[in-house]
Amino acid sequence: MTLKSPGRKVALVTGGAKRIGKEISCALAKAGYAIALHYGRSRAQAQETSRAICKNGGACMIFACDLGQARAVEELIPRVIQEFGRIDTLINNASIFEKSNLAQGDFGLWERHWAVNLSAPYILMRSFAQRVVGQGSIINILDRHIVRNKTSYAAYLLSKKALAELTKMAALEFAPRVRVNAVAPGLILPLGSQKTDYLDRLARHVPLRRKGNPAHIAHAVLFLLENDYVTGQVIFEDGGEHLI
Ligand SMILES: NC(=O)c1ccc[n+]([C@@H]2O[C@H](COP(=O)([O-])OP(=O)(O)OC[C@H]3O[C@@H](n4cnc5c(N)ncnc54)[C@H](OP(=O)(O)O)[C@@H]3O)[C@@H](O)[C@H]2O)c1
Repeated sequence: MTLKSPGRKVALVTGGAKRIGKEISCALAKAGYAIALHYGRSRAQAQETSRAICKNGGACMIFACDLGQARAVEELIPRVIQEFGRIDTLINNASIFEKSNLAQGDFGLWERHWAVNLSAPYILMRSFAQRVVGQGSIINILDRHIVRNKTSYAAYLLSKKALAELTKMAALEFAPRVRVNAVAPGLILPLGSQKTDYLDRLARHVPLRRKGNPAHIAHAVLFLLENDYVTGQVIFEDGGEHLI
């Protein structure tokens, strides 16, 4: 399968090597998109995901980039266009998630969250809007806690709240050519290497009384890509958790 296939839409998925990003990449490949799979450190997993996509008849190429480095982020979409000849969709999925509150959190951690979770998506959105030909679609991955003010992950939460506002502002400014939407996941995967038990405990407090899975997020992403009269929306894929 050649990368430059006229007629085949191209999607850039950040943090696409594993977990939710992998699920989104595989679902978009199955839906016919060629995948520009971005990764930071997980090169081996990015290669593995790319091989799985290609084995199933899809097209995929991997792109390394540290999203904490603004200059490198500026170059990412031009690199994708150079390889694929086009870009149609941007999924801002990559993110960091570390504990910090407002009184004690160190400023370096604050700046890292801001760089990876807000500035990098913004730079990519701007670069995408400048270069997309015809109609384009951007989806930002948020968090159902954007409607809350708990400060145990203060820098993370504020970066996601700001990305939610950026989603709406960009939806207005980039219309009518580019639609901008978001998905706010609930309890999906445990942190890093932790077991899923604590998610099962937390799931008892979710209105639908269960946790979700990465396929739920990919499903919401596909819905937003397919439904071309929707822009500026946030889908809470969280079993109703944002309501309580
Ligand atoms: N997991 C959940 O239940 C849950 C709940 C609510 C919201 N979300 C949101 O859903 C999205 C996906 O969640 P997840 O748990 O699958 O994410 P994750 O595993 O915590 O992170 C996704 C990817 O972000 C990339 N990343 C982080 N810092 C980077 C940097 N400086 N440069 C380049 N890449 C960087 C990493 O790529 P590499 O591994 O290649 O370095 C990582 O694999 C995130 O936006 C998250 O906030 C998830």
